Amino acid sequence: MDAFVVQKNKVQKNKTIAPPPDIPEPPIPDWSAMQLADTWPDALDLKSFRGWKELLRALFGKRKTVQPPINLPLQLPKYIFQEFHNLPNGNYSRRFSRGYITGFDLSMLGHMQRARENIARHFNGCQRVLDIGTAGGRTAAAIKARGVERVWGMDPSPYLLAHAASDYPEIDFFPGIAEKIPFADAQLDGISICFVFHEMPPRYIRRALQECRRVLKPGGVLVVAEPSPRQLEPLRWRELLQRAGWSRLYFKALAHHVYEPFLKSWHRIDKADLFEKAGFEKMISQPGMPVNTWALQAPH
Ligand SMILES: C[S@@+](CC[C@H](N)C(=O)[O-])C[C@H]1O[C@@H](n2cnc3c(N)ncnc32)[C@H](O)[C@@H]1O
Repeated sequence: MDAFVVQKNKVQKNKTIAPPPDIPEPPIPDWSAMQLADTWPDALDLKSFRGWKELLRALFGKRKTVQPPINLPLQLPKYIFQEFHNLPNGNYSRRFSRGYITGFDLSMLGHMQRARENIARHFNGCQRVLDIGTAGGRTAAAIKARGVERVWGMDPSPYLLAHAASDYPEIDFFPGIAEKIPFADAQLDGISICFVFHEMPPRYIRRALQECRRVLKPGGVLVVAEPSPRQLEPLRWRELLQRAGWSRLYFKALAHHVYEPFLKSWHRIDKADLFEKAGFEKMISQPGMPVNTWALQAPH
């Protein structure tokens, strides 16, 4: 069976999914019929000492590049193939993708759910919203729960998307990247992008913002949420006497431990300048700890 079976437009194995320009919506794969190829962590024999040795080496040893499955249906930029978050083969394995989705929320101590609900509030009254870098689809689900009629979730990892599609059948999930959004111009009322830009090199972020601007209708809403730079600030001993101080210590340790190659370059960017140069207006900035959120609008 082909690794990717697409309902609306047939897509062949190993071919980039790029809808023809006259198609305003991306094709949605039939995730329940899809068989995703094993990658090396899936093939590890964890009943053997050798299997565990390889796994531990991946977790704590020298960092390797992700080995994408040969039938990945997208051409992806090289930066995506890093073992983000110290995960063996990053987001590209059947074995670790479910654990990553739950582990991300657990490691954020409940803050992500609150951040997603805050993101979703900005889409009140919207009918068509895309969640970029959706991973397990939890932000997309929060937006759908606000009553948005049509919600899509997009991510480069089919392993994450397969879980998202089985957890949230009311949402349409498809593979794709922020730099090349497979919608025609001015198709969407809203776009969310939650904890994705800090995983991208700056020039790709600028490209992604141009794409968001292109596919949003005039007056459309873009909501961006990313880690707070306060995670990396030095902490005074006095602050540790307060409860918030311990939580900051935890997030600081987390930020230092988890491999995020582009986090510092994201924090160095002047956000007001970035969003303005991409053509967005009306910036609402909601700084928080551990999540910063911006709500922007495409000009009318
Ligand atoms: C930290 S996770 C996002 C979590 C998710 N938004 C949520 O709310 O649970 C980052 C995601 O961004 C995706 N990603 C990385 N580069 C991307 C890009 N260029 N375009 C779209 N998604 C990307 C990764 O595959 C990963 O699933």
